[in-house]
Amino acid sequence: MGPNEAGYAAEAFATNWVSTVGPNLTAFEKAFAERIGQPAACLSSGTAAIHLGLQLLGVGAGDEVYCSTLTFAASANPILYLGARPVFIDSDYATWNMDPAVLESALQDSVGRGKLPKAVVVVDLYGQCADYERILAICGNYGVPVLEDAAEALGATYRGRSAGTFGAVSVFSFNGNKIITTAGGGMLVSADAELVAKARFLATQARDPGIAYEHSQIGYNYRMSNVLAGIGRGQLEVLDVRVAQRRGVFSRYKSAFASLAGLEPMPEAEHGTSTNWLSCFLVDEQQFGCTRDELIGYLDGQGIETRPVWKPMHLQKLFETAPRWGGSVAEDLFRRGICLPSSSSLRAEEQDYVIERILAAPQEAARASEAVALA
Ligand SMILES: Cc1ncc(COP(=O)(O)O)c(C=O)c1O
Repeated sequence: MGPNEAGYAAEAFATNWVSTVGPNLTAFEKAFAERIGQPAACLSSGTAAIHLGLQLLGVGAGDEVYCSTLTFAASANPILYLGARPVFIDSDYATWNMDPAVLESALQDSVGRGKLPKAVVVVDLYGQCADYERILAICGNYGVPVLEDAAEALGATYRGRSAGTFGAVSVFSFNGNKIITTAGGGMLVSADAELVAKARFLATQARDPGIAYEHSQIGYNYRMSNVLAGIGRGQLEVLDVRVAQRRGVFSRYKSAFASLAGLEPMPEAEHGTSTNWLSCFLVDEQQFGCTRDELIGYLDGQGIETRPVWKPMHLQKLFETAPRWGGSVAEDLFRRGICLPSSSSLRAEEQDYVIERILAAPQEAARASEAVALA
């Protein structure tokens, strides 16, 4: 937390604006819209924002929606909420994000089948933007809108422009693990102010104008509370500091491991600046001396929590019947990828310890497997 979150939240208590209307909501949306450059609607989660966003793009039962396969399940679950069918698209090695060439092949094929997707969910993975120049040109040729899932990328840029401004609708998350948080929450943004107003309407039970409780379409209880919006106001004020801290963590890992064979950092594409929301590396078993899973196990034993890179959606039981285009790149990144401790609150001495243990890991892991072989 920064210096002002508690004060803004306390204002909500002091003035009794504790529900889903109030000055913090208005102020947070306004500050966020100014920062991003597009109108914004505060919602209860990033997942809710994707759900409403897809609905605003006209996705309904039986439609196909293309989606990056290398992501967290929340990018794809809302496609199922709407009774639509996800089709998963592989990543490229340059960005780990949706591969524009694979997307183009999928769209070409969909024309042949006479069934264009209703939307494409493009994810900005681990704080890095996808290649929007190419993706938007391709989607534009086919008249298919993009929903940008920038849940992990608030504060990132692509060719100088903010992440989360490339979709017809874009979304952010303020989940507890994100670069800034409201405990839980999300934001939907769009250049189209009417779409954003419609999102606010749907998020507050779609109550028709007037004093009576009249409804002519399905609504949701997806609005953020004014208390949490107070936290969001304060967090937005420290966003640049948090981005610098995350980038600093990644940069220290990169220098420390520069001469260590077999531990390769996630690439930063030339097209923008990543927030390095998570510090990710690829383990090459032959060069490094142990597998990614052995490294995770070893670090766990040293009191260091790490995680594999997201398991691609096309490998998930939930989506086993979903069509996919490619998948081998995402599978390789998943098999070899590790997310190291990345928090903006990670102290220098804590990071030194992580670095020291990783530098020792290949030898220690080899010793451990020798012991197993002897036993
Ligand atoms: C890529 C991605 N999309 C969507 C979400 C969902 O956001 P939320 O947890 O706010 O619902 C998350 C994270 O939680 C995410 O990492």
